[in-house]
Amino acid sequence: MTDTRSESSEEPPGNLPRHIAIIMDGNGRWARERGKTRITGHRQGAESVRVVTTACARKGIGQLTLYAFSTENWKRPRSEVSALMRLLKRYLAAERGTILDNNIRFTTIGRTQDLPEAVQEELREVKRLSIDNSGMVLCLALSYGSRREITDAARKLAIDVKAGKLDPDSITEDSFADYLDTAGMPDPDLVIRTAGEMRLSNFLLWQASYAEIYVTQTYWPDFREDELDKALDAFAKRKRKFGAVDLRT
Ligand code: IPE
Ligand code: IPE
Ligand code: MG
Repeated sequence: MTDTRSESSEEPPGNLPRHIAIIMDGNGRWARERGKTRITGHRQGAESVRVVTTACARKGIGQLTLYAFSTENWKRPRSEVSALMRLLKRYLAAERGTILDNNIRFTTIGRTQDLPEAVQEELREVKRLSIDNSGMVLCLALSYGSRREITDAARKLAIDVKAGKLDPDSITEDSFADYLDTAGMPDPDLVIRTAGEMRLSNFLLWQASYAEIYVTQTYWPDFREDELDKALDAFAKRKRKFGAVDLRT
């Protein structure tokens, strides 16, 4: 029997990243170029979240982490922040079925306790319903900032040292990572940023130390499966060395 799997659009050639993290940027610019409100751009972006999440689950990606709201995004006008929170609540209610149908386990990183109670309730519910799912992990970064996360980890570590539970000499990179919001998660192999900006904007600074970075000019509301495939193709061509010498070249 002929094996046609390599020709399938479902399976990009080469290695698949185990963990993809995406900085979903450009909703505002997408809207402005169309004479629409910023929130219309965010709404269109939520549609990309649905498409990209199901595509990643189907392709066998282990984890997808989406930067949805940063600690710095609280500085935006109150009207935009509350519109984003309403959209998030609606997204969680609407996508619950998609998450469960695709065997996805839902989780979050970031200070979710800062979010409106109605959003927190939806988050708890989707986490609870999907906790036993064995497929892809979908992680939303909400009220997330890497410096805040690392500072909190240092504080928790200091508390444990002070309480006599931890010997400072025993602290390793791995044990430090257990104090981060991402404890137990693999590091991202691929970080995608849409809308062209060449920066991390306080996203996964510790975890992305050796991630491959892929930046596309495409705005997040236009980032759909074809764009995801381009990013996966680019990743498959990268040579990862982790500081060592590749003796095969
Ligand atoms: C990303 O789009 C969404 C969030 C940060 C919540 P932006 O709203 O940052 O879009 P631009 O950068 O203004 O185009
Ligand atoms: C990064 O986008 C944060 C999220 C995608 C949630 P921003 O639009 O907030 O980043 P900056 O301000 O361009 O660095
Ligand atoms: Mg932006």
